[in-house]
Amino acid sequence: MKDRTCLAIVLAAGEGTRMRSASPKVLHSIAGRSLLAHVLAAIAEAGVTATAVIVGPGQEAVAAEARRVLPDVKCFVQQERRGTAHAVLAANSAIKRQQPDDILIVYGDTPLIRAATLSRLRAPLAAGAAVAALAFRPSDPSGYGRLVVAGDKLIAIREEADASAAEKVIGLCNGGMMALAGAHALAILERIGDRNRKGEFYLTDAVEIARGMKLDAVAVEAEENDVRGINTKNQLAEAQAVAQQRLRQAALDAGVTLVAPETVFLCADTKFGKDVVVEPYVVFGQQVTIEDGAVIHSFSHLAGAHVGKGASVGPFARLRPGTRLGEKARIGNFVEVKEAVIEAGAKANHLSYIGDASVGANANIGAGTITCNYDGSAKHRTSIGKDAFIGSNSALVAPVEIGDGAYVGSGSVITKNVPADALALARGRQVIKEGGAARLRSLKSLGKKKARSPD
Ligand code: UD1
Ligand code: MG
Repeated sequence: MKDRTCLAIVLAAGEGTRMRSASPKVLHSIAGRSLLAHVLAAIAEAGVTATAVIVGPGQEAVAAEARRVLPDVKCFVQQERRGTAHAVLAANSAIKRQQPDDILIVYGDTPLIRAATLSRLRAPLAAGAAVAALAFRPSDPSGYGRLVVAGDKLIAIREEADASAAEKVIGLCNGGMMALAGAHALAILERIGDRNRKGEFYLTDAVEIARGMKLDAVAVEAEENDVRGINTKNQLAEAQAVAQQRLRQAALDAGVTLVAPETVFLCADTKFGKDVVVEPYVVFGQQVTIEDGAVIHSFSHLAGAHVGKGASVGPFARLRPGTRLGEKARIGNFVEVKEAVIEAGAKANHLSYIGDASVGANANIGAGTITCNYDGSAKHRTSIGKDAFIGSNSALVAPVEIGDGAYVGSGSVITKNVPADALALARGRQVIKEGGAARLRSLKSLGKKKARSPD
């Protein structure tokens, strides 16, 4: 199959009104990726040579998402919604120009389709078939096209609206995706008419037309998840559950320890090294990489972050985009990190905000330290040198630099640079008044008595 060219045509023109959303259906996300991006990733992995995406009128955002994922994708607009075959023909100029060996027709709203399934769907074309339809056996077949088969040949696909009572009892259903031999595709597609109950150009008619041309059609069976289409928020949540289940399984198979897998939420692009431990209730947003031996403790939220070898995060930590933790760095409870590099062995163990900062190797950030990065109009950077010690409850007002090995006394508000190895104290001096507490108490009790006296 490697030496065969393949054009994938993705039907993404659906408005998705049942999603009750201002966004087009295929731009909704599961596992940190749009539905369309999942489909395009599966197509790319299946080794297609070119991809066309069919969008509806005014769906520029869908075309933009397709181009973001696959820069050389071609987008076509289906001006009127006149059926699945009509949608495919919106890309007829691409078919004519490329003359691909194979054409794969995929829906933009079936995000759980896998590359291996698409490859299996293409396989019969290499063996001479003109049409291969992806079939499945749903628990409830209502609403789907039914596959009429004889032996290993596919005779017809009957849409439910047009099916006879005998055809309606067929359990083998059309998942929607189809592979067409490039050499015959246009001849088949152009013969499809709209004389049916819905008055639409049905792609499914390709089967009977091919057979009329003495060409073969076959069915390729897949799991229901592969063809699971999303029309509602409920179906989106169900697909999310399947996607999470697959990602957790892949992580476990790769050797990640997920203590309670069902409580860990992953993104399609989450990357783990060896011997990583993820405790219960951790959420991974987009673009997270975790290196070997790191531990992510419970209730942490990570996005756009890189966690170095043997580093420790949480419990209750938040790593925001631009975070890079070096080897054995430690980010503890109630610490938020954003756009910051924390070098090897550095620690911020409790209750801190480290934003727009660099923290040198083995520096210690005391509890309650805040980098004051925002002055109300612009963001500024804080640089903390290696081996520096920032005492608890310090505010580092950026832009500011703390030199290597410097020591900042607890409770300081640092507004000026601190040279290397210097001690900086920026807080009110402590005053001791011997016996002052007792005097204060007697003054207070006097006041209370006065307040109680009737005159
Ligand atoms: C289609 C199949 C049916 C199959 C089912 C699987 C046809 C005629 N029927 O039915 O056999 O069991 O999918 O889910 O193919 N689309 C366009 N433009 C159009 C019409 C549809 O882009 O003019 C896109 C839709 O956005 C969607 C896909 O094609 O992504 C399928 O269309 P839909 O209307 O859902 O077809 P079904 O009636 O579900
Ligand atoms: Mg449908």
